[in-house]
Amino acid sequence: MTTTLFSPYTIKGVTLKNRIVMSPMCMYSCHNEDGKVENWHKIHYAARAVGQVGLIVVEATAVTAQGRISSRDLGIWSDEHLTGLKELVSLMKEHGAKTAIQLAHAGRKAMIDGEIIAPSPIAFDEKMRVPREMTKEDIENTIQAFQQGARRAKEAGFDIIEIHAAHGYLINEFLSPLTNKRQDEYGGTAENRYRFLSEVIDAVREVWDGPLFVRISASDYHPEGLTVEDYIEYAKRMKEQGVDLIDVSSGAVVPAKIDVYPGYQVRFAEQIRQSVGVATGAVGLITSGLQAEEILRNERADLVFIGRELLRNPYWPRTAAKELGVELEAPVQYKRGW
Ligand SMILES: Cc1cc2nc3c(=O)[nH]c(=O)nc-3n(C[C@H](O)[C@H](O)[C@H](O)COP(=O)(O)O)c2cc1C
Repeated sequence: MTTTLFSPYTIKGVTLKNRIVMSPMCMYSCHNEDGKVENWHKIHYAARAVGQVGLIVVEATAVTAQGRISSRDLGIWSDEHLTGLKELVSLMKEHGAKTAIQLAHAGRKAMIDGEIIAPSPIAFDEKMRVPREMTKEDIENTIQAFQQGARRAKEAGFDIIEIHAAHGYLINEFLSPLTNKRQDEYGGTAENRYRFLSEVIDAVREVWDGPLFVRISASDYHPEGLTVEDYIEYAKRMKEQGVDLIDVSSGAVVPAKIDVYPGYQVRFAEQIRQSVGVATGAVGLITSGLQAEEILRNERADLVFIGRELLRNPYWPRTAAKELGVELEAPVQYKRGW
């Protein structure tokens, strides 16, 4: 049987052997709190490459130390991070996976010691701290940090870069009117709220001509927040700026109840893909081969991002292949048991 899930996919000259993407997932495993790759990362990511995942997106990796979600996040704010990242990339590639890294800044959701920054001085909830409102200089410095992160990602050998603009972290805080109350050119209108992401994309594009993904939260799940219609407009701009794929997640901008069910975010990926004509990734409770195949075959998304199912089962591609009746080549060492 031929399936779309197990057919190759080429994006801007990078060919993935199948459409299975490991969704970025923080491991909070930098025990020395220096953002450097440790044994855990090497074992964890290489195992999914052995498991035949087509593209592995390395977890949210902080472009500044201040922008970490926790002190144990991976980091890319210094050239000192390069040695570990290079090794990580080569381990994943050695086992046939293509590699991406998610460049991130946590904004007001940073849970680190010291000052935290965001577009406006509003805390996420009563348990979180009030961030300092970013000055123009902070904005410029942070855009530079994303650019430097992209330069290092290139040097480390990653095939793809993903900008984290979802889940209520810094870029998402600029986009949403719930978190951005600025009076300057970075706040107010939709265009102004998009300015920060726009400048980050342009800065990254100056140093990176490979495939560029942006992860978004397509709904704030709040009556005054952004909806998928707003993101269709933003996605048009991203496409114009040379973004190759929108990785469509949702929520976490403000505390809100989300109705979660199998494939609960797929309709957003589908709407954006259809309305904008841009490639999308679908994510969120996609757990079976049949479900993934349905999404791809009905052209609801171009890639499927698998999160927790790949934590439970590093060999999920094999499970999905069996379900779909596909012969998946085994790593040679495992042939007798495959
Ligand atoms: C342990 C864990 C860590 C996560 N870290 C990130 C992250 O670093 N960046 C991100 O964009 N999403 C992150 N997510 C969200 C996942 O990438 C994914 O979007 C979400 O889990 C829904 O997909 P799933 O139902 O297949 O798990 C994380 C999720 C989990 C479970």
